[in-house]
Amino acid sequence: MEELTGKNILLGITGGIAAYKSAVLCRDLIRMGAEVRVIMTEAATHFITPLTLQALSGHPVHSDLFAVEAEHGMGHIKLARWADRVLIAPASAQTIARLAHGEADNLLTTTVLASEAPLLIAPAMNTVMWQDAAMQGNIDLMLARGVTILGPASGDQACGEDGLGRMLEPSEIIEHLQLQLQPELLVGKNIVITAGPTWEAIDPVRGLTNHSSGKMGFALASALHDAGANVKLISGPVHLRPPHGVDCINITSALEMADTVKDNISDCDIFVAVAAVADYRPVTNANQKIKKKAETLTLELVRNPDILAMVAALENAPFTVGFAAETENITEYAAQKLAEKRIDLIAANPVSGDNSAFDSESNELTLFDRNGNSHLSRCSKSLLAQKLTKEIAQRYHETYPAKDT
Ligand code: C5P
Repeated sequence: MEELTGKNILLGITGGIAAYKSAVLCRDLIRMGAEVRVIMTEAATHFITPLTLQALSGHPVHSDLFAVEAEHGMGHIKLARWADRVLIAPASAQTIARLAHGEADNLLTTTVLASEAPLLIAPAMNTVMWQDAAMQGNIDLMLARGVTILGPASGDQACGEDGLGRMLEPSEIIEHLQLQLQPELLVGKNIVITAGPTWEAIDPVRGLTNHSSGKMGFALASALHDAGANVKLISGPVHLRPPHGVDCINITSALEMADTVKDNISDCDIFVAVAAVADYRPVTNANQKIKKKAETLTLELVRNPDILAMVAALENAPFTVGFAAETENITEYAAQKLAEKRIDLIAANPVSGDNSAFDSESNELTLFDRNGNSHLSRCSKSLLAQKLTKEIAQRYHETYPAKDT
């Protein structure tokens, strides 16, 4: 819990009802050893007073770009240089638009432009605003520049709607910061990761697939990249942006995924199979659309190669991590898979009922290795990915101490 000791966090607060949570965020950052300075936009001061944040941070709150006194003391350029991380929570739609376009029209946006510190933002807004194409375009711009987007979470909103747009809880934001500020655990390691579903064509318009959204695999690829690894992500058909800094190869079928993995595995240190690969594919893929004629139609299926087992069986196999998506008996099946596929680590998650991992924003995992099991409790997939990265790195270094430099 001391991972924030000595870290300088510049906390930006913008106008939104979630700003009340920023007081808790500020207090908890300080409890974890961080030095915190606060910049509030004018709109933020309508939701929570600068006095509250001043009392909690123990330092004057900055909000006016042209304040003569403030610029004389810790001016915005000094603040920008002082920060190890700039964290904006909540980040309103307006501030995100300003940042996306490099505007410098208030103290917060000006300071962000003047700072070389990594930027993390925790968006908070009405769900329709969040999903708006203009907003998503702005988020794309920020992601392309390597900004970390924390959340938003899904659930009840102050406006009465229910959906994506809630600010992440302060505890989750702090965990992200802690994980990001720890030493890079996988510097220079080559990692291949599979994600998403596969599509097994029946004819030109139909196919067999599953509900995998690819979110867990993409979040993990991003966290592994943050840990300093060179990451190749081989993904089935998904609606996700490739994570910043990750080399993404798109495939469709299990056979294509297997071939692409084979082509990229030779200098790989760690292989992570998150993809929900179809176990079977149709024996034939009709050239033309199959017409409905008979009352019944039989599809003959043939087994797909098990990509994870294939990699684990290689002569110089990398450290292998598998996932087990189960609707029942998670523990039993996961332990079985660990032994049968001869892999180093397996992460099991539930895919049935209310807590299904498929297409969800959150997930939980039970990890199994030769030494037993441990649990990573339910949280956002991006935070879970950071925690899993730490677990993978620890086990990798224990398994291959000689490969460490
Ligand atoms: O045996 P099962 O499909 O449940 O195992 C799941 C694990 O194996 C996942 O890590 C998945 O990515 C991987 N897998 C694979 N190739 C397959 C089937 C599963 O890599 N054909």
